[in-house]
Amino acid sequence: MRPRPVVAIDGPAGAGKSTVARRLADALGYTLVDTGALYRAVALAAQRAGVDWGDGEAVGAVARGVVERRELALGRSEQGAVRVTLGDEDVSEAIRTADMGMGASRVSAAPAVRAALLDLQRQAGEAGGVVLEGRDIGTVVFPDAEVKFYLTATSDERARRRWAELRAKGHDADLSQTLADVEQRDSQDSTRAVAPLRQADDALLVDSSGTGIDEVVRSMAVHVARVAAK
Ligand code: DC
Repeated sequence: MRPRPVVAIDGPAGAGKSTVARRLADALGYTLVDTGALYRAVALAAQRAGVDWGDGEAVGAVARGVVERRELALGRSEQGAVRVTLGDEDVSEAIRTADMGMGASRVSAAPAVRAALLDLQRQAGEAGGVVLEGRDIGTVVFPDAEVKFYLTATSDERARRRWAELRAKGHDADLSQTLADVEQRDSQDSTRAVAPLRQADDALLVDSSGTGIDEVVRSMAVHVARVAAK
């Protein structure tokens, strides 16, 4: 067993995984390994190489290339924020656009891309004392993670949060349409052939419906501390 656990967080879109992962890592003094950032960086590298995000073979080759040449790396700024580099360039900001979010979603459906990023994710987490969030962390990347959470909330609640977020950004969003989008994304994510959304058998279910984020993070931190003390 590692001196400090690997903590894996999975769950449907809109359950608050990224926020909870960041807050939990801070609360525990662990490192946040942002695996989504790697998929985003592959999308950016593909776009720059003129490769279509939907061409699984070609994006796979791009991903293998940046990994083999050691161009793609996850690091941290002095303030502790996640930094992503592609060759000599810091692309941390460039990958945060909605366009790269879309690109990451497309390229992450390619098995060759997922395979190319596997070792990089494992190396980033294997020493323990890390929190990783994403689609197949608890099932494929770290099936042996000491702590696995499946973070969810009802579709109504996730839609309401997403709707409030959109409104806060000044978008004229419709709640029933947002709910329909959330339900469509759930069904898409659970039924897709590659890395479908599913709860690992040994994952602890955390339902954040009707619970504030502070309370959710606190109860998860208590659980990790209990496992780490064993
Ligand atoms: O969390 P994010 O928005 O940065 O993720 C970008 C995309 O990458 C998202 O569509 C899901 C995908 N992803 C994945 O397939 N597996 C992961 N471990 C992390 C992210």
